[in-house]
Order: sequence, then C-alpha cells, then structure tokens
Amino acid sequence: MDEVTTGSEARQIVRRARCAGCSIGLVPTMGYLHEGHLSLVAAARHETDLVVTSIFVNPTQFGPNEDFERYPRDMERDRQLAAATGTDLLVVPSGTEMYPDGPQGQRVWVEPGPLAKYLCGASRPGHFRGVATVVAKLFAMLEPDRAYFGEKDFQQAAIIRRMARDLGFPVEVRTVPTVREASGLARSSRNVYLSGEEREQASVLRAALLEAAGNIAAGERDPSALEAAIRSRIASGAPAARVDYVSVVDAQTLQPLEGYIERDVLVALAVYFGGTRLIDNITVSP
Ligand code: PAJ
Repeated sequence: MDEVTTGSEARQIVRRARCAGCSIGLVPTMGYLHEGHLSLVAAARHETDLVVTSIFVNPTQFGPNEDFERYPRDMERDRQLAAATGTDLLVVPSGTEMYPDGPQGQRVWVEPGPLAKYLCGASRPGHFRGVATVVAKLFAMLEPDRAYFGEKDFQQAAIIRRMARDLGFPVEVRTVPTVREASGLARSSRNVYLSGEEREQASVLRAALLEAAGNIAAGERDPSALEAAIRSRIASGAPAARVDYVSVVDAQTLQPLEGYIERDVLVALAVYFGGTRLIDNITVSP
C-alpha cells in the first residue's frame, strides 16, 4: 500500500494507474476505521482496480459545539486495517492541502440544496455544505471512476449522488449496506464514546426501525403514527436516550410526507446518548 499526504503525489499514482487501463475506486473517510468503512473498501476492491482510501477529519462539516477536536483518531491502526482490506493508496491530506487558506478562508462552497433541508440537515446547519465541499475537493484531487458511501448516512449519499449529477463529476456514486454490531447497533466511529450501558440501550434504535418497517408491512400508512410508535419504543427501551428527530420522509426527495405513505419511504432517526449523537435509518416500500 502506498501512502501520500498531498494531492499532487496522489494524482501521479492515480493517473499512472489510469494510463495502464485501471479503474479508480475512492472510499472517503474520516478515519478511526471500523467494519462499516472496511465494507466500502471491500466493495471498491471488488469493482475497481486501484482502491484509494482517504482519511481526513473535515473541520467544515462540524458545528461549533460538535466533536471536531475530540473526534477519535488512530492513524497506525487505520493504516494496518486499510492495507489488510485491500487499499492500494492511502491518502491522508493535511489541513492546508484541503483548505489552502484555512477552513475560515474557504470562499466557494458546494451548496447541497433541498436534499439537505430536513433530517440531519435541519439539526446540523452547514454540515452538508461542508461534506459536499470536501467530497468535491476529493473528487477533483483523485479523479475516481466510482466512489463508495454507506447507507447509514443515507442523506449524505443522496446529496453526493446529486452533486455528482448536477456538477458533472464523472463519478459513479455507489452505496453499501449498513454494517452492524451483533446487537443491531450501526457501527460508527462515535460508538467509542458510549458507556457500556448506553451501548446496550442503543440497540433499541435498530429494533424500533425494524418494528416500523413491520408496521408498514402490516398496513400502517400514517407517518405520524409510525413516528410516535418509534419514539415510544425508544423511550421505553432506552431511558438514557434523547431523541433529536424521528422522521418518515420520501426516499427520493427526503421531504416529509404530506399525507399517507404511497411510495418508498426512508424512516430515519438521530438520537443522543449523553453527548454522543447516533443515526440510523431503514428504507421501506409500502
Ligand atoms: P465517516 O463517518 O468516516 O464515514 C465514511 C464512510 O463510511 C461514509 O460513506 C459512511 O456512510 C460509511 N459508514 C460509516 N459507518 C458505516 C456502517 N456502519 N456501515 C456502512 N458504512 C458506514 O461520512 C464521513 O466519514 C464524512 O462525512 C466524509 C464522507 C468522509 C466526508 O468528510
């Protein structure tokens, strides 16, 4: 595995591979790799010839009171995991590589548009602008044919797919199912913040989403009834939880439903355990 810290070094390797007829797969991450990230690497390994994994904790997608400073980092472990799972090129750009004038000096942004209006976009103002902007920079730097994103961050993947389409990036955006712990809890770098008790309680999130899917299968079509059932399941199963949002939205537009469920929906939630914010979702066809 090669490892580089600058765009120009990375581009040299990527372009040489492309000249040799190789396709390029990119897996953008913020590091502290876990099995969720590694399933993206595995998908890229399966579908493309040169697998590029990037690690950059992007300051512009964190709010002022969020965990940018204390976001977990372990470069040595990440390096080993990335290599062991088939990364060919690890790109670990510096802050100035990604933001030449610093995050505050960034003047041109990618505005994520209406897909960012609800769900995490409503709770984390500016978050998806930071995500879309940094992913656009990575696309420009690494010129991938395909880029891999997790369904756990459904809204993020939808925004990136739309960005590629609207800005004409010649990148195919691929999504990979959420990897979970045995309890059902979605794997996340932020799970390390959870106490043992919180981690146990957090398994209720998946259970509540599965129950909602079951309710839809059984004929429930009222989004507010579904939301209320999920909230009450969380309240009874996880006394330590504080719900940020529970929402049933159109799976294409990510807009709240006007009336009853008629098309595919995304049932999504964000829940705090102490200072740790967890998200999860499920898509359901009525
Ligand atoms: P990060 O949280 O490190 O996640 C990197 C990628 O891994 C994302 O596409 C995310 O959806 C995926 N992922 C995380 N947990 C997963 C799981 N349990 N199962 C499957 N995939 C999972 O998302 C980001 O970083 C950043 O916003 C980034 C896109 C890198 C831009 O800074």
